[in-house]
Amino acid sequence: MSKEIKRIGVLTSGGDASGMNAAIRAIVRYSLYKKLEVIGFYEGYKGLISNDYTVLTGNSVGGIIDRGGTFLFTARSEDFKTKEGLATAKKNLEADNIDALVVIGGDGSFRGARDLTCLGVNAVGIPATIDNDIYGTDYSLGFDTSLNVIISLISKIRDTASSHERIFVIEVMGRNSGELAIRSSLAGGADYVLIPEIKVDLVKISNAIKNHREGKRHTLVIVAEGAAKATDVAASIKLLVEHEVRVSVLGHIQRGGSPSAMDRVLAAQFAQKAVDFLLGGGTNAMIGIQNNIITTMPFEEVLSKKKEIDRNLFELSHILAL
Ligand code: F6P
Repeated sequence: MSKEIKRIGVLTSGGDASGMNAAIRAIVRYSLYKKLEVIGFYEGYKGLISNDYTVLTGNSVGGIIDRGGTFLFTARSEDFKTKEGLATAKKNLEADNIDALVVIGGDGSFRGARDLTCLGVNAVGIPATIDNDIYGTDYSLGFDTSLNVIISLISKIRDTASSHERIFVIEVMGRNSGELAIRSSLAGGADYVLIPEIKVDLVKISNAIKNHREGKRHTLVIVAEGAAKATDVAASIKLLVEHEVRVSVLGHIQRGGSPSAMDRVLAAQFAQKAVDFLLGGGTNAMIGIQNNIITTMPFEEVLSKKKEIDRNLFELSHILAL
């Protein structure tokens, strides 16, 4: 669909991620600079189906750059996945005179955006998920902030672990990806990291913990939620190492907090590229960053390929811990 872009819609969808607000602000202000109007749909695709929106002005996005979460709210809409839901969304976009849609979210949200483009809607995606599991971008908004939250929590756990000479198993999010776990482990100075992409050998890990405990007052094991349950890992280690083990499941704390400088800068860069891409007639693609260059990649490619973890970082985390 190639028509002049005058009015764009923006929404945030799926799990929230710090930096979403910074991205909304940048989209609105850069669009206004380019003489475009912007409207924001509430609660992601749910708001698109119920046509729940607000006109976004430069002032309306003031004071949100440093806020976590998303002031447009978010949801995981089941209705949108139906034929009827998609058709209603398209009808609403036409009725609201919206020429293009910017979707801020993860791969599930991009599947929705891709489906809309199949109906002739112009759409572009901005990656935002703490999981950093999207093919076609080295970083997603929220990942860096989440990492910083996690490493500050790991430090606190280390304080108490060391005081009590305990082993701690710390469960981090990431869905089916070990990205968040690997980098938390490396940056947090943990001893072991368990990720879904690499087979877990708890006997080997327990033997290593046993052998290396001498002179060590704390042992920190990071478990990606997609690899195993922290409680199960802790029970096995306790049995095999015969030492006190405590569990800490970090949970949704990892998703909150003021976005890091990196996430705010990235949000601005992604937003600028998204608007320029649409104005240049682009559609049906995700904005990303690869080797420090802001890129675009067709949704189809993003959705059909799997992002690989960095095995070197996984190994390095263990090398540096021992
Ligand atoms: O995708 C982000 C994420 O935080 C995952 O890491 C986690 O598995 C999931 O969302 C949790 O989803 P919910 O907030 O719906 O419990």
